[in-house]
Amino acid sequence: MIRCDRTAAWAALKGHFEAHGRQFDLREAFARDPGRFSSLSFEAPGVFADLSKNLLDAATLHFLLDLARECGLEAQRDAMFAGAAINTTEDRAVLHTALRAPRGQGPHNDEVHAVLDAMLAWAETVRDTAASGIRHVVNIGIGGSDLGPQMVVPALDAFVHPGLQFHFVSNVDGHDISTVLSRLKPAETLFIVASKTFTTQETMANAQLARAWFEARGGTDIARHFVATTTNVEAAAAFGITTTFGFWDWVGGRFSLWCAIGLPIAVAIGADHFRELLAGAHAMDCHFVEAPLGTNVPVLLGLLDVWYRNFHGTTSRSVAPYHHGLRRLPAYLQQLEMESNGKRVDRDGELLPYHSSPVVWGEPGTNGQHAYFQMLHQGTDLIPAEFLLVRRPTFGSFGLNEDLISRLEHQQTLLLANGLAQSQALMCGKTTDQALSDRPLPVSTQMDAATLARHRGFPGNRPSTTLLLDRLTPHSLGALIALYEHRVFTSGALWGINSFDQWGVELGKVLCRDLLPRLVEGGATADLDASTAALIARLRA
Ligand code: F6P
Repeated sequence: MIRCDRTAAWAALKGHFEAHGRQFDLREAFARDPGRFSSLSFEAPGVFADLSKNLLDAATLHFLLDLARECGLEAQRDAMFAGAAINTTEDRAVLHTALRAPRGQGPHNDEVHAVLDAMLAWAETVRDTAASGIRHVVNIGIGGSDLGPQMVVPALDAFVHPGLQFHFVSNVDGHDISTVLSRLKPAETLFIVASKTFTTQETMANAQLARAWFEARGGTDIARHFVATTTNVEAAAAFGITTTFGFWDWVGGRFSLWCAIGLPIAVAIGADHFRELLAGAHAMDCHFVEAPLGTNVPVLLGLLDVWYRNFHGTTSRSVAPYHHGLRRLPAYLQQLEMESNGKRVDRDGELLPYHSSPVVWGEPGTNGQHAYFQMLHQGTDLIPAEFLLVRRPTFGSFGLNEDLISRLEHQQTLLLANGLAQSQALMCGKTTDQALSDRPLPVSTQMDAATLARHRGFPGNRPSTTLLLDRLTPHSLGALIALYEHRVFTSGALWGINSFDQWGVELGKVLCRDLLPRLVEGGATADLDASTAALIARLRA
């Protein structure tokens, strides 16, 4: 496999960027080419992608596709699907795609479906709330054992069992779990202890606290009220949990919502809808494997990420889901993208001479518009923006009359108009002359009209991608998440990095263990750096 910066396509892209990319103007590109939207918009299962408001032309795309071919993207992808140990630092296969392969297809199929069937059957017993008595489900987990279910359950609110409430406890900060527990009764509560390793400090501390609370409040039958989802079944048993749904070391934490870690989702939306979620992801897997590179949406998005990061020099990408249910999507993507591709050495351990993962950040629309969008429009950085629009709403049913329904539908139209207006404003901008012709013309006693107009002008030519879903359903959400997974795979494959390990989180864990005894009275601090020692002294005072 050849690394991206050693390819002919990389050199061609550099030349192309200098000649045409740096000065590329979106407004001129649309004026020149009436077919731009249709040639730069693409269909994937459940997701329509408009790439036409990006800083690229046919030549850019041509060179980027050459880059993908030269880097052996298709061979790398096929190796992942076939179960090769592409996570080389941990000597593991990367097979989250096998978790959503239909029965009879894909590696490890029998064991995958055996656990899936058992877990979904068990989820249905919890959903029978008259018999189970469960009203609250508390997922205790962090990172990949939290962010997926925490993002998906509110996103699919319209499909969630109306008699169940879901809580997600992740932080070792006791304010997290204490707020949740203060509202619960043991007899009505199910705790899901979710941890791939079953050793993670935060999760173990919260699980022990939950068990102590359960017993102190008179809870009985721990076996019925605590369940574990883990690859470390022995550790769960040692904790005293008898019901466990397992998974395998070839499922990375941030790719694990499709297996036992998805148990809170399965309890929330039920077995049939969970299978729909898997089917949507599988449909996207097929698209990623089968669609030609030039119409392959995850590939194109991954290539765009490389184009912006390595040629335009952008450092971040903002993601704004225009669906309130997707409010946790930016946090989910932060782990998926930055834990996967935030790497500084290639697969051979050589320092990268180019940048890898950008910062990924965002807030749901329209909230973000009233916070950070100012910077997207008028700040000094070029920040590619991503808009996620959902055409038709899925409001939960809570006895809506016609008037309320029509008001909510109007709000949906407002929401979509806002999303479209933002990408339009980013692209079109507003010249100083246009600002001067605004009526009524804003005035300031402190400056002349021309100066004020410069404050009110927008440079425009700022790129954005719009991803459009028809409805947010288990199927379309599954497809969307898989789309992001494969996009991250694509850019990681081109950068020549291992997207599936996360050594960067280890050092802090080790140092935390070392600092813990030093924080108590009498703990030694003399051998620490002066800043840490002084902070400990203040904390102990
Ligand atoms: O933050 C590091 C990490 O290992 C993540 O990759 C993982 O998702 C998370 O911790 C939780 O790990 P576990 O599921 O083993 O508790």
